[in-house]
Amino acid sequence: MIMPADTINILAIESSCDETSAAVIQNGKVLSNHIATQKVHERFGGVVPELASRAHMQNIIPVVTAAMLDAGMRNKDITAVAFTQAPGLIGSLLVGACFAKSYAQAMNVPLIAVHHMQAHVLAHFIEQSPEFPFLCLTVSGGHTQIVLCRSYLDMEMLGETIDDAAGEAFDKVAKMLGLPYPGGPLIDKYAALGDPKKFKFPMSEMKEYTFSFSGVKTSVLYFLQAQKKLDSEFVEKNLHDICASVQYTIVNTLMTKLRKAAKDMGIKHIGIAGGVSANSGLRKALTETGEELGWKVYIPRFEYCTDNAAMIGITGYYKFLNGSFADMSVIPSARAAW
Ligand code: KG4
Ligand code: ZN
Repeated sequence: MIMPADTINILAIESSCDETSAAVIQNGKVLSNHIATQKVHERFGGVVPELASRAHMQNIIPVVTAAMLDAGMRNKDITAVAFTQAPGLIGSLLVGACFAKSYAQAMNVPLIAVHHMQAHVLAHFIEQSPEFPFLCLTVSGGHTQIVLCRSYLDMEMLGETIDDAAGEAFDKVAKMLGLPYPGGPLIDKYAALGDPKKFKFPMSEMKEYTFSFSGVKTSVLYFLQAQKKLDSEFVEKNLHDICASVQYTIVNTLMTKLRKAAKDMGIKHIGIAGGVSANSGLRKALTETGEELGWKVYIPRFEYCTDNAAMIGITGYYKFLNGSFADMSVIPSARAAW
């Protein structure tokens, strides 16, 4: 491939949890984005950190090779390498960090360390151009956050969950209902067939933009235990209505906080990101609220909502333009301050 001298090609690596992903981004446009999803965790009902690290070790070279080939890139075409530095599972992060540091050293290209949660927000800029200030509700299996985004690299986390993430709440309720992991998509599917007002579960009352989902999880647990004592087939008979009612409660909790943040900050450009943004109830609620309040709403394509290296690459691209490089002493971190 012949390229102008000022072309910026970023090789990006994501390995924070259970997806090994590599992407090539050219001048902010995605040329390739490969994701190896680790099936090994399914039978355990959740991600097993040691197994995730081992799978990353096996996947990293094939996934990078596929992303490079798909983008028509040779190693000498790469301008910089970006990787997820934090937050995440430490063994998983280490695999991507070691690969990226080795690559940077071997190819003598700059290294860019990326914050995974900032990357989820910037995934919106892969195919769209939201206006700043922009508000993003990031909802995944590990996180629930409202982020105020003043520019590409100037972000402030306004609030997050103090216990379970929204996706975790979906998955844990699904487990109580006997559904396989991850159960969020199945709750969504059955919810479409049920009555969201049939059963009432409490919404958490947290201050400002703070979330809590352990209460709804516990109330569903006690509710099911009590109902099953009366009728052992209660779940089977009411599956759709239970799913619809739980989804309604979680979505309502998310939307209440998002509405408040948007009103308080006076922001009308609003997006959702993370795996739970695939939820049809949340998408519908966001679209309807947008129409009601005059918001312009943004939802990235699904492959850019769940964990992926393209979002690491777009963040790496803006950090490259800003001259924000890491040196070889950089180490991954399981937790990361904003
Ligand atoms: O962002 P993600 O792929 O991975 C991380 O957690 O980082 O999010 C996965 C989460 C899981 O909890 C999964 O159940 C949830 O997103 N999820 C959904 C839906 N699709 C994925 N939850 C509700 N409805 C969905 N349609
Ligand atoms: Zn994520």
